[in-house]
Amino acid sequence: MRLIVTGGAGFIGSAFIRLALRERWADRIVNLDKLTYAGNLENLREVEEDERYEFAHLDICDEAGVARVFEREKPDAIVHFAAESHVDRSILGPAAFVETNVRGTFVMLEAARAAKTARFLHVSTDEVYGSIPGSLDADENYPLRPSSPYSASKAGSDLLALSYFTTYKMNVVVTRASNNYGPYQFPEKLIPLMISNAMEDKPLPIYGDGMQIRDWLYVDDHCRAICAALTKGAPGEIYNVGGSRALPNREVVTLILASLGKPESLMKTVTDRPGHDRRYAITTEKLESQTGWKAQVPFEDGLNRTIQWYRDNAPWTARVRSGEYQAYYERNYSRR
Ligand code: NAD
Ligand code: DAU
Repeated sequence: MRLIVTGGAGFIGSAFIRLALRERWADRIVNLDKLTYAGNLENLREVEEDERYEFAHLDICDEAGVARVFEREKPDAIVHFAAESHVDRSILGPAAFVETNVRGTFVMLEAARAAKTARFLHVSTDEVYGSIPGSLDADENYPLRPSSPYSASKAGSDLLALSYFTTYKMNVVVTRASNNYGPYQFPEKLIPLMISNAMEDKPLPIYGDGMQIRDWLYVDDHCRAICAALTKGAPGEIYNVGGSRALPNREVVTLILASLGKPESLMKTVTDRPGHDRRYAITTEKLESQTGWKAQVPFEDGLNRTIQWYRDNAPWTARVRSGEYQAYYERNYSRR
């Protein structure tokens, strides 16, 4: 299979490329990435010499550039990860979210349609369902009630992708995953932020009461789910991908502190995120029954692996936390 992967220099995209080449899911991968603050070619050191892999430095909103890559590559499938992915940044500045997540997805869909690409896998999120009340788990037919500019832009791109199936009979599949964690995650997201702050004895900012619930999915389990949906999913279908491990944020942070041998007094309650979703919870029965996929990594194992990775890779964290990160951190946290 010849793949175009977008956003392959980010956290999940780079994990997907490393795994796809290691496990021979693809004969060729072209990684199309703009290298925003979240894109990092260091994440792909393991594959940069692999002759099956090529990097194309490109904005997915660049129609002519994207068309040229499709013309040259004639891919069998697209795995579309590229996005602005952080809720807090979408609250501080939503424009880039609409541009990349909505218009960028439109450009990719049009390029795939023109090239008659056999398959388009759109990587989305369980945040499109918004906060899920009570003890209910959302299936793929649950109404879309996105709360943040990030999740609204993802919901918009999901609907656009699905419309290409309905209208143009394009072979589109949408996956909606829960909160990922693992190595190489940018330290703006909860788990890597808390690990790296705790390692430096810095305060750990807990939004509101810290009892918001997220369902944690190890990144390699997510990548395997994408491979399963790409190869076995039915056209026009949506597949939830979850770790079946729902935990309140405080409990996650307590586990991190215990594993690092740091005191709980490092936790600092700060002003809540506006529009903060209280609870995410999804069922993954559809993906499991139709493809045989199942999450394999228990949360405690995945968390310990992740903590060990950040301990072993302090220079990576130091590099990504220099420069722009400092300004973002100041902007997001100084007045909370
Ligand atoms: P990330 O922020 O780590 O990486 C995003 C990548 O996209 C970066 O390499 C960046 O350079 C690239 N990119 C951004 N704008 C671009 C543009 N205009 N053109 C080309 N490349 C561009 O994100 P992630 O956490 O790896 O998430 C990847 C995808 O998975 C996103 O679509 C996200 O919505 C989805 N998702 C993420 C999670 C999660 O927990 N992180 C969960 C479910 C779904
Ligand atoms: O559910 C899938 C989504 O998970 C993905 O689509 C997003 O790309 C990804 O960023 C993630 O969104 P969240 O908003 O759930 O993730 P985040 O890591 O930003 O926050 C997780 C929880 O932790 C959330 O309840 C907010 C809280 N939090 C987060 C940060 C960064 C804090 O309490 N303090 C913090 O400093």
